[in-house]
Amino acid sequence: RFPSFVTIKEMGPRDGLQNEKSVVSTDTKVQFINRLSQCGYKSIEVTSFVSPKAVPQMADNYQVFQQIQKFEGISYPVLTPNMKGYDAAIQAGAKEVAVFTGASETFCQKNINCSIEESIRRFLPIMEKANDNNVQVRGYVSCVMGCPFEGDIDPAAVRQVAKRLNEIGCYEISLGDTIGIGTPEKTIAMLHEVLQEVPLEKLALHCHNTYGRAIQNILTGLEMGVSIVDSSIASLGGCPYAPGATGNVSTEDVVYVLSQLGVETGLDLQKLEETANWICAAIGRENRSLYRGSE
Ligand code: HMG
Ligand code: MG
Repeated sequence: RFPSFVTIKEMGPRDGLQNEKSVVSTDTKVQFINRLSQCGYKSIEVTSFVSPKAVPQMADNYQVFQQIQKFEGISYPVLTPNMKGYDAAIQAGAKEVAVFTGASETFCQKNINCSIEESIRRFLPIMEKANDNNVQVRGYVSCVMGCPFEGDIDPAAVRQVAKRLNEIGCYEISLGDTIGIGTPEKTIAMLHEVLQEVPLEKLALHCHNTYGRAIQNILTGLEMGVSIVDSSIASLGGCPYAPGATGNVSTEDVVYVLSQLGVETGLDLQKLEETANWICAAIGRENRSLYRGSE
């Protein structure tokens, strides 16, 4: 019924910390990522090379990327919305980047200050350079289940953007339920459309857990054969340009539920829990995961 192995990509240091109200020190971020590297991940999203005016929490992107320990077999992707961000990421030593756009025009404007079409135009030279530099590029589509400004989003619009990201050479496309308003029905309808254009093995689900439905939606996607899931330890986070959005689904919750279903993730639940408690204590915030293994 489910894939036997699901790859989990950790979003905490980027999607999680980009929305923290308190300033998180560079040193805390570096320690956090180094701890995550011990948990069994193959991919940990580290930071974003975006405008520090837009997202002050990620202003220390270069320092964080330089200072973290990089382990063989773990990818440390960073977000790059434009060539300026891409060049800075490469300068810092990034080997994988992610471009990001949306299925909603209004969200795209608010988030990256351009239309969807213009965002793809900006990605083209990035794809070319990345190809020359042997850098892998992941693509994000936001608002795949709905938009905080436009409401419902037509699955055909998601299909269109996913198709473009696939055509320009993204190795994987992450489908973002930015504000967590997805349902199993919407997940099926959206994936059904996207699958007309993008092969199953290139699709990831990136669910925020605003209304507590992320796990349900993820399981629905996995039943359809998706095998890559983005999540955030302790459910850290939210998008600064999506009012009301809370963090990604908790990594521990996903790993726990999947382990109960006999699906492997390669992640160590106890180390995840320790790391979740550590980062929550370090930044003074509650752990929003439901999983409490050691209690
Ligand atoms: P813009 O204002 O259109 O950019 O912003 P610009 O090219 O006109 O430049 C304006 C200023 O920004 C200039 O500086 C540039 O140098 C600077 P000034 O001359 O005013 O001092 N600038 C940069 N600085 C550093 N790094 C850069 C960069 N580019 C320009 N890369 C821009 C366009 C995209 C830069 C801006 O809107 C931005 O940074 N947005 C940030 C968006 C963001 O990080 N959002 C959160 C991440 S996305 C997300 O969370 C969703 C996701 O999780 C999936 C989901 O959940 O749906 C991925
Ligand atoms: Mg997100």
